[in-house]
Amino acid sequence: MRRLFVAGNWKMNLLQTSATGLAAQLAAAISAEIPAVEVAVCPPFPYLAAVGAALAGSGVSLGAQNASQEKPGAFTGEVAVEMLADIGCRWVILGHSERRQFYGETDELVSRKALAALAGGLDVILCVGESLSQRQAGQTETVLDAQLLGSLRGLTDAALRRVVIAYEPVWAIGTGVTATTEQAESAQKHLRNWLEKHYNPSVAQAMRILYGGSVKAQNAAALLAQPNVDGALVGGASLKIEDFLPIVQAAQMAKK
Ligand code: PGA
Repeated sequence: MRRLFVAGNWKMNLLQTSATGLAAQLAAAISAEIPAVEVAVCPPFPYLAAVGAALAGSGVSLGAQNASQEKPGAFTGEVAVEMLADIGCRWVILGHSERRQFYGETDELVSRKALAALAGGLDVILCVGESLSQRQAGQTETVLDAQLLGSLRGLTDAALRRVVIAYEPVWAIGTGVTATTEQAESAQKHLRNWLEKHYNPSVAQAMRILYGGSVKAQNAAALLAQPNVDGALVGGASLKIEDFLPIVQAAQMAKK
């Protein structure tokens, strides 16, 4: 049994009042004991501490959207894993397609960040996903294989237990075009098969694989009903309580 996981990626959105206000609403709605579902939100760096304080005692944990692969030191503009753990982060999103696309992050860099994050006490949400042209060229599975191989380089079975994979087809992110349930399940089953081949199969079976890309209240239940969709990484619909809560509720209802 894999515990479903719904994570909100706030990206570069909200300001202090709206961020802490949303966190307070989430804390009030999501109690510490929701056995079926794990919930996290990932605010921008400046609001992590304040959002963490607003979430204290609730069933929602805190994540960052990125972290440096380096130890604390002379790296202007960067944020170390140690700092994120220190202010109460449990999670870090790594390898998001926006970081790969706009900031040149490679699989090699993502793997260094993952190793640093796990060593520093953060659990990792690792994003992979193909572009539209790659899908149209029939390269989806090859692209996913290469991303997993490169991004997970150096991780042991024990480390993998603290990693959640997020399958996020780039063409579905922020576009309103969601993958069909068949497309999501097929890619996510492929990811699990790859993990089973390269790691201890029981570890691969226990791993959560989330779907991300225009998840909304209207499509969450159908996606979460797929055997290899163990939760959702939610962007746009995580910014308003009335959009996000129904997705958490859909996860609570999903019988796995
Ligand atoms: P979206 O973003 O839900 O706005 O498509 C998902 C993501 O990028 O994690």
